[in-house]
Order: sequence, then C-alpha cells, then structure tokens
Amino acid sequence: MDHAELTLLLQECAPRLGLRYHGFSNVRGQVLKRIARRIHALQLQDVAAYRARLHSDPAEWAALEELCVVTLSRFYRDAAVWRALEHEVLPQLAAAARAAGERHLCCWSVGCASGEEPYTLALVWELGLGGCQQGLGLSVLATDRHAPVLERAARARYPAGTLRELPQPWRERAFESQGGGELLLREPFRRAVELRQADVSRWLPAETFGLILCRNVLFTYVDEQRQPALLAQLLSRLAEGGALLSAPRERVPASEQLEPWLPALGIWRKRPR
Ligand SMILES: C[S@@+](CC[C@H](N)C(=O)[O-])C[C@H]1O[C@@H](n2cnc3c(N)ncnc32)[C@H](O)[C@@H]1O
Repeated sequence: MDHAELTLLLQECAPRLGLRYHGFSNVRGQVLKRIARRIHALQLQDVAAYRARLHSDPAEWAALEELCVVTLSRFYRDAAVWRALEHEVLPQLAAAARAAGERHLCCWSVGCASGEEPYTLALVWELGLGGCQQGLGLSVLATDRHAPVLERAARARYPAGTLRELPQPWRERAFESQGGGELLLREPFRRAVELRQADVSRWLPAETFGLILCRNVLFTYVDEQRQPALLAQLLSRLAEGGALLSAPRERVPASEQLEPWLPALGIWRKRPR
C-alpha cells in the first residue's frame, strides 16, 4: 500500500473526525498500518478505492475513527512529573482538601488507557507519600471511551516493559509475577481507582476534583478548534486551586481560569476566583 497516499488520507480525514493530524506524529506508522489492514480486509484495491468507500458508506467513518484510537501508556510516564506530584503538588492538594473538610483527595484520570496512569497515581500516594494523609484518602475516577482498555485495566496485568520507568522498589512491592513475563498489580494498590467507560466530549462526572490528569488525550489528538470547549468542560469539574495535568510537550489552550504551576511539566492550577 502506498505510504504517501495513506498519509495523505489520514491528513484529509483527521479534521472530519475531529482529530489533530499532527498529534499522530509519533504513532503515525502504527495508525497507517491499521488503515492498510482495513483496506485489505475490505478487499479494496488501494487508497483511492477506500476514499470512495468512505464517500459511499458513512458507517465506514466510525470504523476509521476506531483505527485512529491510540492507547499507548506506561507506568510512571514522564518520571519528573510524578516526582513533582509526590514532592510538591499532591502534598499541597492534600492540605487544601483537608482544610476544606474533605475525606478524600478526588482525582480524575481522563483517557486512562489500560490503567497505567491512575494506578501510578495510587502508587505515588501509597508508596511515595505513605498512604492515608492525616485521615485523607485518595480516590481516583479513571475514564476512557474505549472498552477494551478498561477491561485490561480491570485485569491489572501488565507486560514488564510497561513498568520499566517505575522505581524498582515500588515494582517489587506492588506487583507479583504471573509467569509469561506478565505482572499483576496487587489489590491494595487498585482499591482507590474506579474505572468507568465514558467519552469526555459527551459525559462529565457530577463531582469536583482536586486533580485532573488529561495527558496525551485531548491536547494531543483532538482538533485544536475543539480544544477550548473541552478544556472549559474539564475546568468546570476542577476545584479552585486544583491542578490540571497535561503532558509536558502539549499546548493547553489559553484560559483565564488557569495559571502556571509547573508549566515545563505540564502542570497548571485553577485560579481562585
Ligand atoms: C495515548 S492514551 C494516554 C493514556 C494516559 N493518559 C497517558 O498519558 O499515558 C489516550 C487514551 O485516551 C482515550 N481517549 C481518547 N479520546 C477520549 C475521549 N474523548 N474520552 C475518553 N477517553 C478518550 C483513548 O481511548 C486512549 O486510551
């Protein structure tokens, strides 16, 4: 299959799917391979024939959208971010939650993939900060729109490579070998995390959070024109003084509600009114 033609197809189709073509730069090869396989499975001759299929069969757009889902993640991704959370951000958010009389520091992982991100947060809380903070527990809502990744998150079994950035002593305490190179996250480190299938562009939780993690999801893959409205929705669920985490290389749309906290790490704070 012609690589340049496939690339052009993705570039043309991304805006119609509400996606940001440039967000795929690190994973483009993988997505193009999936599209090529799809064209083959439909027994079509080439990219031009697939373009015609998209034109004549609107249902094919849903299939193409599925092919563009990127679910890559890993534990302790961007280690400096997790260190900053452990040593600066979480202690401050926990103090604010305690002062507000909360029983839990409520966090939301938007686009949690197979659980690597919300479970890393639980590990930082339990193993970095020693668990319950003067009576304050951790609660993490972990949402993703893609059901298969949530099933993997519920199983909590991971290939060893996914854990390579996690501090070794944490790996040993939190995981047990399952054979075949897979590691199971022990139950006490899963308790704080509630998994839920949800598309953030269609559903918002009712509660307010002290910390929202939205890394390598909206600000990478969603069309820039749609990002401000989605950011406003996220901010409507973030407590004043709460933290929003993007990925370090992502550009978060400007918002009067946000001020930099540790911007080089993608960490922002919601301004008090
Ligand atoms: C590349 S992974 C990032 C996982 C994790 N946040 C990280 O940084 O490692 C992106 C995840 O976001 C999910 N996702 C994409 N758009 C979404 C949406 N509108 N609502 C909820 N989840 C979404 C995808 O299904 C995928 O599992």
